[in-house]
Amino acid sequence: LSSLPKAKGWLSPHLYKYQGFWLTALHLQGTLSFQHCFQAQDFDILLITSPKSGTIWLKAMVFTLINRMSHPILSQEHPLLTTNPHDLVPFLELNYAQEKNPISPNSSLTSPRLYSTHLPYVSLPESVKNTKCKIIYMCRNPRDTFVSLWHYISKLRSQDTKMIPFEEAFDMFCNGLTMAGPFWDHVLNYWEKSLEMPQKVLFLKYEDVKEKPFLHLRRLAEFLECPFSLEEEESGLVDEIIKLCSFENLSNLEVNKSGKTLFGNDNRVFFRKGEVGDWKNHLTTEMVERLNQITEDKFNGSGLTL
Ligand code: A3P
Repeated sequence: LSSLPKAKGWLSPHLYKYQGFWLTALHLQGTLSFQHCFQAQDFDILLITSPKSGTIWLKAMVFTLINRMSHPILSQEHPLLTTNPHDLVPFLELNYAQEKNPISPNSSLTSPRLYSTHLPYVSLPESVKNTKCKIIYMCRNPRDTFVSLWHYISKLRSQDTKMIPFEEAFDMFCNGLTMAGPFWDHVLNYWEKSLEMPQKVLFLKYEDVKEKPFLHLRRLAEFLECPFSLEEEESGLVDEIIKLCSFENLSNLEVNKSGKTLFGNDNRVFFRKGEVGDWKNHLTTEMVERLNQITEDKFNGSGLTL
């Protein structure tokens, strides 16, 4: 660690710059063994997000989609009813950091293996890049991502950790100093890969999926080579998946209200509002202008807007 550039973090005391991105000490440790030990396989599916971009929602949708034969959506025994999506689809770098076997009996890591990470493209293990393993990336607009992150960190902080002021946290976010940041570089790299390798990388936006969930679930199913049959579509199955994975449903399940995260917090920290545009209640005009300017500058010429 001592050889890496270091900066003040929000929740964790420090962030370390590794391969151009900022990671907490825990994530860095996990990343190093993930890169070293993990062997991707052709049928693997990797879900990737920048933190607070709807990771848990993506996990619920993809898990439900690919397991729809073995776990019927309306079954009272559907795993989502009793298991938090993060336990069904583990973060590989965190499992490695905790020296846990990523293929835990609780998780969905049977074939196709489904797992997740917050790592930037540059830090993915070579085998992820060299196999036919598929990547699904979901991003969210930086305004809501920052606001969501702020609330999340406020809830996670222990009683004796002082919360940094909102304006200071905003400044850090704009300067790229956030877990897996710079946020814009993370998103842009996956956007470019999705254009270069559309068979390998599917790029989704939280806002689009919120607005047209049916359309994007169909895209997901096609990308994963398990498209919905006409019969499935006509039977209302897609709507059932949307409902099962909705914010309203997931956030009201007992397991997601009272169960515990890896770090001992309530699972409810992963569910707040689940809306597009809550930034309007938190950011000043100047803050919005600053975020918009960075987005414009960073994404200039890429065809990507957020
Ligand atoms: P808000 O804080 O804006 O409500 P992540 O899973 O990457 O940590 O992202 C968390 C964000 O996704 C939170 O956003 C959370 O409320 C929202 N979220 C959780 N479940 C969701 C769902 N089923 N549909 C839409 N958004 C969801």
